[in-house]
Amino acid sequence: MAHLVGAVTTSHVPAIGRAIAKNLQDDPYWKPFFAGWPPVHRWLERARPDVAVVFYNDHGLNFFLDKMPTFAVGAAPEYRNADEGWGIPQVPAFRGEQDLSWHLIEALVQAEFDVTSCQEMTVDHAFTLPMALLYPSQAWPVKVVPVCINTVQFPLPSAKRCYALGEAVGEAVRAWKSDARVLVLGTGGLSHQLDGERAGFINKDFDLAFMESLLHDPRWATQFDTGQLVEKAGTQGVELLMWLAARAALGERVAGVHQNYHIPISNTASGLMVMEPAA
Ligand code: DHB
Ligand code: FE
Repeated sequence: MAHLVGAVTTSHVPAIGRAIAKNLQDDPYWKPFFAGWPPVHRWLERARPDVAVVFYNDHGLNFFLDKMPTFAVGAAPEYRNADEGWGIPQVPAFRGEQDLSWHLIEALVQAEFDVTSCQEMTVDHAFTLPMALLYPSQAWPVKVVPVCINTVQFPLPSAKRCYALGEAVGEAVRAWKSDARVLVLGTGGLSHQLDGERAGFINKDFDLAFMESLLHDPRWATQFDTGQLVEKAGTQGVELLMWLAARAALGERVAGVHQNYHIPISNTASGLMVMEPAA
């Protein structure tokens, strides 16, 4: 059976792509953000994943407002990035792990998550930038399965539902007949609001409480409905649902391996965590 090696959760701000392209990692603005990553690279050397299951939210590249699945799973042989208008370089294509894609789709539908299966799919900055942070060479050593959760167009799935989705994905990965080592990635958040009267809103107290909860009380955030999450984390801060799904995939108990938190990157509170299933 496949082995779930752990989860990495991170923000996915487009400006990261520009910082990478311009080699600004040691620039005073960027250093506190990029300094969070070498421990993740050392952990990846030990964890040696073959496959990454990536919980992320598409922002309009693959799904637009006319067709917006709540949950979508990629089942493509290859995933390409494209220009989203942020002025950041495109990254090399990702190879899909189609056997795991179809295994997940079957297991999720069996578990009554009526997912949209996507045999063609582009992946946006929420997928590509975290991958580029994990693997700076961009010679991707893992195959991928994208799992897309709508946080762009209301109504959004609840925190409780996203937690349950993550649990079902974790169970399915562990039941996958393969000797692959599987990494789960959750991208988005933490608190940010890009538009409206509260543009620029960041809530450090909430973010730190949320990160702590993932280690010791992972269902904590499921007490909040979407309106409460928007109030606490900002309209786009609800992207923390990806973190919740990724955490849930690890099972009941985890060990925290590493974390970093820095305010702000662009308009966003950037967070980073590495967790392993507890022995
Ligand atoms: C920013 C953050 C996001 O999560 C995103 O998808 C786009 C932009 C930002 O802070 O600039
Ligand atoms: Fe985003």
